[in-house]
Amino acid sequence: MTTVPVNASRQYDIRIGTGLLDRAGAMLREVVPCETVMLVCGDIVNSLYADRVQASLEDAGYRVARYVYPHGEQSKNADTYFALLNALAQAGLTRTDAIAALGGGVTGDVSGFAAATYQRGISYIQIPTTLLAAVDSSVGGKTAIDLPAGKNLAGAFYQPGLVLCDYDTLNTLPEEVFTDGCAEVIKYGVIWDADFFEQLKSPIRPQIESVIARCVEIKRDVVQQDEFDTGIRGLLNFGHTIGHAVEKCSAYAVSHGSAVAIGMALMTKAAYLAGRCDEDCVDSVYAMLRQYGLPTRTEFAPDDLLAAMLSDKKRSGSRISLIVPERIGKCDIVKLPVEEMKAFLRPALEDQTWK
Ligand code: NAD
Ligand code: GLY
Repeated sequence: MTTVPVNASRQYDIRIGTGLLDRAGAMLREVVPCETVMLVCGDIVNSLYADRVQASLEDAGYRVARYVYPHGEQSKNADTYFALLNALAQAGLTRTDAIAALGGGVTGDVSGFAAATYQRGISYIQIPTTLLAAVDSSVGGKTAIDLPAGKNLAGAFYQPGLVLCDYDTLNTLPEEVFTDGCAEVIKYGVIWDADFFEQLKSPIRPQIESVIARCVEIKRDVVQQDEFDTGIRGLLNFGHTIGHAVEKCSAYAVSHGSAVAIGMALMTKAAYLAGRCDEDCVDSVYAMLRQYGLPTRTEFAPDDLLAAMLSDKKRSGSRISLIVPERIGKCDIVKLPVEEMKAFLRPALEDQTWK
């Protein structure tokens, strides 16, 4: 097992290993001495893993209630959030109790937001079961739900008390969901670590523990410098401005990781066309995305994508922040007025081919 400690507004450990689901109760006992745990999961994860986690929690002396929602991004909304708050109240959770979020990023984001707001804040732990959640969403304390106007528009910064990543759970992921998580893995190489990017040229399944550990170390290092996302944390949004627009234009039919992959490809091409990175950098990003079977283009019209980007959170007043590659391992945060942002991106959106 690898442990990555995080020292943010709350200190906690990220534990990465096998067989951790069955040790969840004992590990939770070390950090959250509460009576009742609300185990939250989507319906698919409920049938795969929730009984094991519940048994482990009960063995450790917790009373366990369970909230199950229909899986998918469409559930990351106000209805699920309020239903979960009501379930917490009906199960009698008090301020000293806790939520265990068992699942992917949707489960973690909704559960974290409920934990941040129920009785003005209760503890929660993340038990990620997708690669994306393992390497990204379970760490760093961003919690949110989507609003009809856009992704993640209501939320809170709220750190978990523990992250338990049992990567055995990744074995039951549909291939396309695993692939989705690879987009966020590749992101860390492009924004931060060229050696790690090289490491990803070898298949990641045989090296999964070290890959997850390196991703969360990078995320930890970024979050510790800028927990509340006023500066360098913006780097973690590489590919996300275009990605969120693709998700929104598709009514969330395009998954988050695929949308981020498209966003990384098109942003890198835009950077090249604007003279901010060289051709090798674009070649490397496209080759890596293609190696992992990730998409690099979308059929949505440039005007629709640009309109969707204007409702993104990364807009501040009349300026929008773009994460622009300079070379593999180094990206810049570029704040542009809306019209300049459109001019920067439009050529790459209009011709999305690359070699
Ligand atoms: P997800 O939570 O919808 O999970 C994807 C699918 O995998 C679901 O159908 C789920 O039921 C299924 N599943 C989960 N674990 C499984 C397992 N072990 N075996 C079989 N099936 C399993 O999607 P995701 O890709 O994990 O997360 C995407 C979400 O994360 C988006 O809403 C995105 O905005 C959010 N996100 C948040 C952050 C953050 O910092 N908070 C960062 C990145 C992404
Ligand atoms: N996933 C972006 C962040 O956590 O800041």
